[in-house]
Amino acid sequence: MTRSLDYFIKLSSERTERLFEKTIKSSAPALQEAMRYAVLNGGKRLRPLLVYITGGTLGASLENLDAAACAIELIHAYSLIHDDLPAMDNADFRRGKPSCHKAYGEATAILAGDALQPLAFELIATHPCTLTAEQRLQMIALLSKASGGEGMAAGQALDLSIPMTSLESLNRMYQLKTGALLVASIELGFLSAGTSHEKIRQSLVRYAECIGLAFQLQDDLLDVEGSLASTGKPAHLDATNQKITYPTLIGIEKTRQTIQTLLADALRSLTCLGEKGYLFHELADFLLQRNH
Ligand code: IPE
Ligand code: IPE
Ligand code: MG
Ligand code: MG
Ligand code: MG
Repeated sequence: MTRSLDYFIKLSSERTERLFEKTIKSSAPALQEAMRYAVLNGGKRLRPLLVYITGGTLGASLENLDAAACAIELIHAYSLIHDDLPAMDNADFRRGKPSCHKAYGEATAILAGDALQPLAFELIATHPCTLTAEQRLQMIALLSKASGGEGMAAGQALDLSIPMTSLESLNRMYQLKTGALLVASIELGFLSAGTSHEKIRQSLVRYAECIGLAFQLQDDLLDVEGSLASTGKPAHLDATNQKITYPTLIGIEKTRQTIQTLLADALRSLTCLGEKGYLFHELADFLLQRNH
């Protein structure tokens, strides 16, 4: 039976949130509350969605995708807590509510990030399902690389330290801070399926690289054009923080065109999947329309 993207969008939120309800725990009550607040407060669940549609397309069981889907979202949630801190973007709102440090204080917010990160790896290592030990090991290695000093954390560091004066340096920073986790979502779905079609893996990675960059460009545009009411995040924060972004470097119109080009490139990379790639096509269209 052919399942629509809408089916997977709903499934992605429901399955991850059910598992978060069961697994987000702490021996310190305030820490547990902050961890739950940062994860169970909405969010598009895009990264889990990528895990589910990749695994679903390649024949993995939903049970074998849950750990990876939750793990990548936990890393994402922790990255957002830290990203909002005064020492980083100093953002008071996230997903339409006070950001974690505004609700629980900076120290507890830092610790919530610290605790969510290893929970991601614990889930992959221990969640009951039929993933083999070898698969789990590969997934842990992949997620560590994508989120650490050669992945998301590196992108965040470059975002803070280097004046982004060229598109090349901006692209590199975006590939790391945002693209790395989106590519990892696809790779985790692929590993959970236990297949070895290298050509398909490469095509999907290329797809994720393109939508990853397009996604951050849209995020930059939403910062310029959106509002707290529509995005759930403070408007014009990039300007307040004097960030050089795509719109500041090449303008709003060219940023829009680049998003279109990237999404078209993403679709082109799917040819080897044939009709099996329909969910990825639908996702690219869905992302093009997004306003939050
Ligand atoms: C926000 O990610 C941070 C970026 C990498 C641009 P999302 O837009 O996926 O945030 P949520 O999870 O839906 O809140
Ligand atoms: C953050 O990029 C990407 C992360 C790795 C957290 P932004 O700083 O632009 O994300 P938002 O706009 O705060 O969601
Ligand atoms: Mg940031
Ligand atoms: Mg930010
Ligand atoms: Mg942003």
